[in-house]
Amino acid sequence: MAHSADSAVGSKDILAEENSDKREEVVELLKKAYWMEIETVMSYIANSVNPDGVRAQEIKESLAQDITEELGHAQQFAARIKELYGVVPGSEEFSSEQSFLQPPGDQVDIVHVIKGVIEAEAGAIEHYSRIIELCADADPVTEDMVIAILRDEQGHMREFEGFLREYEKEGLA
Ligand SMILES: [Fe+2]
Ligand SMILES: [Fe+2]
Repeated sequence: MAHSADSAVGSKDILAEENSDKREEVVELLKKAYWMEIETVMSYIANSVNPDGVRAQEIKESLAQDITEELGHAQQFAARIKELYGVVPGSEEFSSEQSFLQPPGDQVDIVHVIKGVIEAEAGAIEHYSRIIELCADADPVTEDMVIAILRDEQGHMREFEGFLREYEKEGLA
C-alpha cells in the first residue's frame, strides 16, 4: 500500500508507490531496531535491580534512568514503522540476542554488567548508523529521527566506558 504520485519518477518521497522496495527495506531495519530497544529495556530493568554491593549503586541508578529513554526509542521506532505502511510486530516474533547482558553468576560482578551495556550500546550504534546511511537519500525523516536516537546511544556508551575506565584503573576490570 502506498500513495501514487504523478511525478514520482526519481522521487525522494519514501511513501510513493515507486519507492516501495526501499520503504520495505527501511521498515525491516526499523523492526530490528525496535526489538533491540525492547530487549534493552528488559536487560536494563534486570540489571538495574540484580547487582549487589555499594559500588553497584551508581550503575543501577544509571540503568534505571536509561529504561525510560530506551522505551521511548522503541515507541519512536514503532510509530515510524506504521508511518511507512508497515506493521509493528507482535511479541511472538521476538527473539533474544543480548547473551552478554544475562545476569552474571555472581551478583557483585558489576564489570560484567558494564561490559554488557557497552556491547548493547555499540550494537545499537552500529545498526542505527546503517539505517542513517540507507536513509540519507531516500528517507530524510527516518534519518533525522534515528540521528537523534543515535546521539542518545552514544551518550549511554560513553558514560559506561567511563565507568569501565574507573574499574580498569583500579585493576578490577
Ligand atoms: Fe535506545
Ligand atoms: Fe541506549
